[in-house]
Amino acid sequence: MYTPQMKELIKKVEETRPQRVGVHFPRMSPEDKQEVLKKYHPDFIEAGFSEITVGVNKGDRVPLELATLIDARSCIENVELDLDQYDYDVDVLVIGGGGAGAAAALSAQEKGADVLLVTKLRFGDANTMMAQGGIQAADKPSDSPPIHYLDVMGGGHYHNVPRLVRALVNDAPIVIKWLEDLGTMFDKEEDGTMVTNHGGGTSRKRMHAARDYTGAEIMRTLRDETLNRGVKVIEFTAAVELLLDEDGKAGGAVLYNLETEEYQVCRAKKVIFAMGGSGRLHYQDFPTTNHYGATGDGLIMGYRAGAKLAFLDTIQYHPTGAAYPPQILGLLVTEAVRGRGATFLNIDGEQFAYHLETRDVASAAIIRECVGRKKGITTPTGMVGVWLDSPLIELIHGEGAVERMLPAMVRQFGRFGINISKEPMLIYPTLHYQNGGLLIDEHGETNVENLYVAGENAGGIHGRNRLMGNSLLDILVFGRRAGYHAGETYKDVKLKKLTLEHVKKYHAELEKNGVATGGRISPMLLPRYTHREVLEQEA
Ligand code: FUM
Repeated sequence: MYTPQMKELIKKVEETRPQRVGVHFPRMSPEDKQEVLKKYHPDFIEAGFSEITVGVNKGDRVPLELATLIDARSCIENVELDLDQYDYDVDVLVIGGGGAGAAAALSAQEKGADVLLVTKLRFGDANTMMAQGGIQAADKPSDSPPIHYLDVMGGGHYHNVPRLVRALVNDAPIVIKWLEDLGTMFDKEEDGTMVTNHGGGTSRKRMHAARDYTGAEIMRTLRDETLNRGVKVIEFTAAVELLLDEDGKAGGAVLYNLETEEYQVCRAKKVIFAMGGSGRLHYQDFPTTNHYGATGDGLIMGYRAGAKLAFLDTIQYHPTGAAYPPQILGLLVTEAVRGRGATFLNIDGEQFAYHLETRDVASAAIIRECVGRKKGITTPTGMVGVWLDSPLIELIHGEGAVERMLPAMVRQFGRFGINISKEPMLIYPTLHYQNGGLLIDEHGETNVENLYVAGENAGGIHGRNRLMGNSLLDILVFGRRAGYHAGETYKDVKLKKLTLEHVKKYHAELEKNGVATGGRISPMLLPRYTHREVLEQEA
């Protein structure tokens, strides 16, 4: 429920609403975009970053909170392990239980590999499940993969790795067909054709969705398929360190059972990381849309083993995180709300940016409005935000459109007495996505032989900014590619003795460079939210 003061301010939004129907607010010029990004986007706040002090990316700039985990010692440094005794011995080990992990496991198994999927939470507890707005694919006559390619490159400020983008857009229609064949129920027109919509930065309507529950619908399908096909899945088991063989190739992982607190050794000819992002590191103290398990574990383990990182100095803040009520602070308000026409408004009910600017530009414009121009709306708990005028959708698409198109959003706010068909939402940017990750090739393989990465822990596809709907797409494109390639090539692998020498070398390098690790260990596995942990972090 909005306070009487907020309700009073909403009257200004209502006053300007009819004038905004069908009116095209001008987009920013390229120069204006650069200016607002440099001045207001968190990526340009130097104090939020630090240089990596050891390893293949030494000297590169990454968020402070991630640098702290990179500059830490392994959590298994003092654990006794017999690397010649295997608790599991498989062809392909997939680490991660979201969409990328499921797609990789299904694809590797299809090629005849004996696959084990481990996940530190439950299978499906991942960012995929929480994805709302949609998945891009150029599969309509008005569109094509080359047009999709140009949008992805433009969104990424032309820093994306071209061959990865080529793979992304060319596989997109194949992935949609694959999902449909597996049973994903996308929104359809009366005649059976797919409903497609715009997202920020798209020049064609190519967002396929299942209302605003798209990720949940896709994960439902993939999880069922994985279990029905008999892939071995172990839940509540985290990977804590990658194992290499004597030639420096990936050869398995040390696992940790979170329930029994036992360490286990898994030997594998191919390892696929699908461990997601790092939103739970709360860069620059931002709240996050991310799943509880998003603590950057893949980045840490891959980097210690010598895999290269790319574009980790660019983080995505989703422009529309909930700013009110406080119970849902930072949770996702899907970009589909903007896609359907909702506009950003300041305290005076004035629109201040084109509603479908890319996420980085839209976020910077909102921060400018709130911090620079002081035109935000302050909540009773001191948060500040701008309006996202969802009732405008009813004027554009007809009465009942909000409930029909955005049922998850209606429920998210309805629980707190806010009717988004009639009242705007209060929003502010929230930490959503790491644009970079471990650098991969078009098969999903890293520079560490036999180590593949798919999903948000992979880097290079999105350059310096990802567009909406290309994450649900990339987890499946590169999950499938990694799985197929690993499944086709595992037979050629002759595993040698497994070692953790790379971890010892990493520790030695930290010492040589005088890095004060201060008792820090990584990977983190779970965020530190208990009172004691918060006090420890502040000390
Ligand atoms: O806004 C959203 O629904 C998020 C989609 C995405 O990150 O691709």
